[in-house]
Amino acid sequence: MAIVTSKEMFRKAYDGGYAIGAFNVNNMEIVQGITEAAIELRAPLILQVSKGARNYAKHVYLMKLIEAAVADAEQTAGFDLPIVVHLDHGDSFELCKSCIDGGFSSVMIDRSGLPFEENIAITKQVVEYAHDHGVVVEAELGTLAGVEDEVNVSAEDSSYTRPEDVQEFVERTGCDSLAIAIGTSHGAYKFTAAQCTRDPETGKLVPPPLRFDILDEVAQRLPGFPIVLHGSSSVPQEFVDIINQYGGKMPDAVGIPEEQLRQAARGAVCKINIDSDLRLALTASIRKHFGDHPEHFDPRQYLTPGRAAIKAMVEHKLINVLGCDGKA
Ligand code: G3H
Ligand code: 13P
Ligand code: ZN
Repeated sequence: MAIVTSKEMFRKAYDGGYAIGAFNVNNMEIVQGITEAAIELRAPLILQVSKGARNYAKHVYLMKLIEAAVADAEQTAGFDLPIVVHLDHGDSFELCKSCIDGGFSSVMIDRSGLPFEENIAITKQVVEYAHDHGVVVEAELGTLAGVEDEVNVSAEDSSYTRPEDVQEFVERTGCDSLAIAIGTSHGAYKFTAAQCTRDPETGKLVPPPLRFDILDEVAQRLPGFPIVLHGSSSVPQEFVDIINQYGGKMPDAVGIPEEQLRQAARGAVCKINIDSDLRLALTASIRKHFGDHPEHFDPRQYLTPGRAAIKAMVEHKLINVLGCDGKA
């Protein structure tokens, strides 16, 4: 059975100094691009589904697409690809329960915007139901800036995780992994120009460094416990440049430098969430395709290179950022 929980994956990742990529899926081409990369590189994988993705594609379609990827790996590569099917940013007990009942092996309950005690109470409720059903739970402490599943969190309302809270939170909730806020942020515009410096040669924004001091203190207080980073797209500037060159408008889109994510993956961070970079790879490829072939109108003509662009981007992440190639 290749749909698994992240328990064993995270233990090996922690000990091995690498992280598992958690990629958001919304349709067939995205599932295929990601899983083809993971199959080729023998990489363990987390495919995650947001509430918005579930509303867009329906639970059953996404579940069946992921099951198809598992079957395809077995049939075409003779490989039992281990995949975690995860709910990203669950905001209620009912949503988490529905995903658990519908075959997911992992859920996130994200009520980090609530006061500490209320976050503990709802997380504990989800953990009890999930563990009774053999499912693992990711929780969150601290609030990331950016767009988080239809919720906009301004930079002023975001807050770093307080390391002094993590032990009590994990002990009292029984959660299996913890997402923390150390300066990452959701979306393709992670920082305002005022938060960055500017590279004098390229004119591109240079973001402020992640708060590794917070990560280190969290890791000291929770030895061996898997930490999760959300908002970890790097917003590759080659995609942004293609999008802008072919009629798009994404000025000052900026992400997290890959070497900082690699550094986090060497330590306590076992899961790194990537969605925006998938969107950018697909959009850049499709915009370029239409620029070069304005007469095309068959979706297969532009989705074939789009899917290949996702695959190439994911391969790069698995090897150079996550370090999880060959670990399945
Ligand atoms: O963290 C949010 C993910 O990028 C999912 O985004 O809610 O637009 O599907 P979404
Ligand atoms: P990005 O927007 O940086 O890709 O973050 C995705 C994410 O955290 C999904 O939960
Ligand atoms: Zn997220």
